[in-house]
Amino acid sequence: PTIRREDYRPPAFLVEQVDLHIALHPTATRVRARLALRRNPDAAGAAAALELDGEALRLLSAVLDGAPLPEDRLGHLPGGGLRIEGVPDAAVLETEVEISPEANSELSGLYLSGGNYVTQCEAEGFRRITYFPDRPDVMARYTTTLEADRAACPVLLSNGNPDGAGELPDGRHWARWVDPHPKPSYLFAVVAGDLVAVRDSFTTRSGREVALAIYVRRGDEDACGHAMDSLKRSMRWDEETYGLEYDLDVFNIAAVSDFNMGAMENKGLNVFNTKYILARPETATDMDYEGIETVVAHEYFHNWTGNRVTCRDWFQLSLKEGLTVFRDQHFSADQGSAAVKRLADVRRLRAAQFPEDAGPMAHPVRPDSYVEINNFYTATVYQKGAEVVRMMRALIGAENFRRGMDLYIARHDNQAVTIEDFVRAMQDASGTDLSRFSRWYAQAGTPELRVREAFADGRYTLTLAQSTPPTPGQPEKLPVPVPVAMGLIGPEGAEVAEPRLLLLEEAEQDFVFEGLAAKPVPSLLRGFSAPVKLSGLTLEQLGFLAAHDTDAFVRWESSQQYATATMLAMVEALRSQEPKAERAVHASGDAAFSGRTLELPEGLAAITGALLGRALEDPAFAAEALALPSEEFIADQMTIADPEAIHAVRQFLRGALGRRFAARFAALHETLADAGPYRTDGAAIGRRALRNAALAYLGAAGETGRAEAQFAGATNMTDSLAALRVLVDSDSPAREQALAAFHARWKEEPLVLDKWFTLQAMSPRTDAAAAEALSRHPDFDLRNPNRVRSLVGAFAAGNPAAFHAASGEGYRFLADMVIALDAVNTQVAARMVSPLGHWKRQDAARGARMRAELERIAARPGLSKGTYEKVSKSLAA
Ligand code: ARG
Ligand code: ZN
Repeated sequence: PTIRREDYRPPAFLVEQVDLHIALHPTATRVRARLALRRNPDAAGAAAALELDGEALRLLSAVLDGAPLPEDRLGHLPGGGLRIEGVPDAAVLETEVEISPEANSELSGLYLSGGNYVTQCEAEGFRRITYFPDRPDVMARYTTTLEADRAACPVLLSNGNPDGAGELPDGRHWARWVDPHPKPSYLFAVVAGDLVAVRDSFTTRSGREVALAIYVRRGDEDACGHAMDSLKRSMRWDEETYGLEYDLDVFNIAAVSDFNMGAMENKGLNVFNTKYILARPETATDMDYEGIETVVAHEYFHNWTGNRVTCRDWFQLSLKEGLTVFRDQHFSADQGSAAVKRLADVRRLRAAQFPEDAGPMAHPVRPDSYVEINNFYTATVYQKGAEVVRMMRALIGAENFRRGMDLYIARHDNQAVTIEDFVRAMQDASGTDLSRFSRWYAQAGTPELRVREAFADGRYTLTLAQSTPPTPGQPEKLPVPVPVAMGLIGPEGAEVAEPRLLLLEEAEQDFVFEGLAAKPVPSLLRGFSAPVKLSGLTLEQLGFLAAHDTDAFVRWESSQQYATATMLAMVEALRSQEPKAERAVHASGDAAFSGRTLELPEGLAAITGALLGRALEDPAFAAEALALPSEEFIADQMTIADPEAIHAVRQFLRGALGRRFAARFAALHETLADAGPYRTDGAAIGRRALRNAALAYLGAAGETGRAEAQFAGATNMTDSLAALRVLVDSDSPAREQALAAFHARWKEEPLVLDKWFTLQAMSPRTDAAAAEALSRHPDFDLRNPNRVRSLVGAFAAGNPAAFHAASGEGYRFLADMVIALDAVNTQVAARMVSPLGHWKRQDAARGARMRAELERIAARPGLSKGTYEKVSKSLAA
């Protein structure tokens, strides 16, 4: 059953007040709900029935206005919901249901994680707790009374402010929570169990004292400092940047090990995957620290963009997610090096969103239809959605954008609204017509920009042309307004024109610059001003920009594009070569290419040498710029990829660059050793990143002694893991021993064990058989999403050579896992399907094997609708 955006109808009934009483029990939790209903004046059909969603509920009783509803008044809806005819315009419905948290392996609704009760209601989990119109345009006030065994559940949390607690007979106790703000059901939450609180407080700008608490398992109290600090900085930032203050007396966070996503912004009670809360230097990497800061901020920012102003329906998901990702990116950029943060965000967009836009699941930022909404929590809705907000801000200017935000919130506080409402606020606040710009929300696919140039008599003409390739269901595309931040660089490496923001609105436009002494080199898409692909610059121009541009993004981008073009040429050369005697491509390169020769291109060596020469000026930037484009990125530039050749080329280049600059890498590794105390500020993180990049190049060149020493002596997880990665990817005799030592040391730390799985899953030395063996390791657990992602997700998305092994074993392993997972957790299973969807990019033999695995999954009886949607769309494209 496909849900379509155009079919939206307002609900027949609104819910004014919800009073819940939840008696917690592992297998038989009782939920009593009292709903104060009112017919919706905006709905068509004056006598329409009341429809309540419900799923996996055992109904015990239903009472309407004090009178029990007989069976024959309850219509049963397909998914498990109820339909009640003849409900008066104002009515009170009381239901009681029984549910089993223990049996809930979906991790949607109320479930157990490590013995503690936790809920996840977005998008459609509340219907697994009680009968309710479980759609975001029904906003209600909630009171929640929780009741549980005091010994098992000393902590009882829900949304809003605490409102009493007390003892009950038989060792039970209760607590009541009142949320004064109306909210959609997807923001409901309960957490109960044996957790301990790390406390702090925050005084809002207008003087409200907010009690902050992070609830974690006993023993993890020492790992919450960074999350708490990030929370307080987020609260301050939102006041300073948008004038937005927190609006309850408490802000609680609970961290759990079993969680489908990163975190959830439930009103006043955010629930987090432990991965995005817990951090100690010994157990968390610098990337983990950055992830925590970002996700804590993201969930906090949702309080206004998502909770106070929410979505009318799930097609509007990017209204809250794109905007909130934009806000968290902006916040993180403000905390340290904005340029380096931007590179990381762009790298992520290209790694996840561009392939999605080019694949079978391509959809607009505001989708038009879905089967399972959980399949649309995508890089397109989140990351591209954030890019669209960023472009809008660039077009109307920061001040107008701020005014637009004020207007959006003033107009729509406590409402469930649409993306059009957001765009309208920006348009009204800025006086800029954004109707054409809205195409960015409606059209799927990544626009491609092509550059042409002409120069004569001091007049430079830049011609930009755009086109967007067809995507499933959208054969024809219109031009979109593309903001192109740019400058011109003269032959001496200086800016020779005022930097400008060009607006490319048509399929093709000329931009003319007069009075130039010589032909300049255009520096385009500074700061990545639009989520597009750009082509048309020569290798020579890219090399020039990599060395001379004043914009850090363009310098990085040009070096990446230079490396990409070089690698693509090498892939072609390798494929067309006849095998020669003796010289192999690389010690650990592919057997398929042994006897063929590759040489280190001098241009790439020169760029690398220049980067190394300036590396200490900005170590974080240098680390980013020194990294070769990923194998996946190279594959995405080819019509038909060649995973083996790409892998061979990249491995060869890493080794060759490592050998060529061995002395400089070794010197960097020495110089950047941190003698002082461990710190996680941007500067310290940048130094470690560059130092470990050097270590990796040395490892690729066969020098693993340094990695062994670093592994043995490391006192923080960043350095330990970087060293272990070098060993795991090498044929060093220390490899197995290091893996065993790491496992022995960290076997009680699930988040660290995840890293142990991931390192191996992504190593070129791990083939499908080895990955499969890891899935039989006693520490592997299909019921834990982090563990599944750490092995299966990492293998399929991060080890292309093994995943795309010509034998098809990589595909088979993934399909086996999807099938097994679909019986446990359909949301996670459906997510794992994606890598199989990109079969069009592979050669005919691989494509056929990928499709065969998709068919095998599709044929499984009882497959979930979410997995089926992904599989069938993958096959149809
Ligand atoms: N709203 C959450 C966030 O982005 C994501 C929750 C999505 N959960 C899901 N099961 N689809 O912060
Ligand atoms: Zn979000």
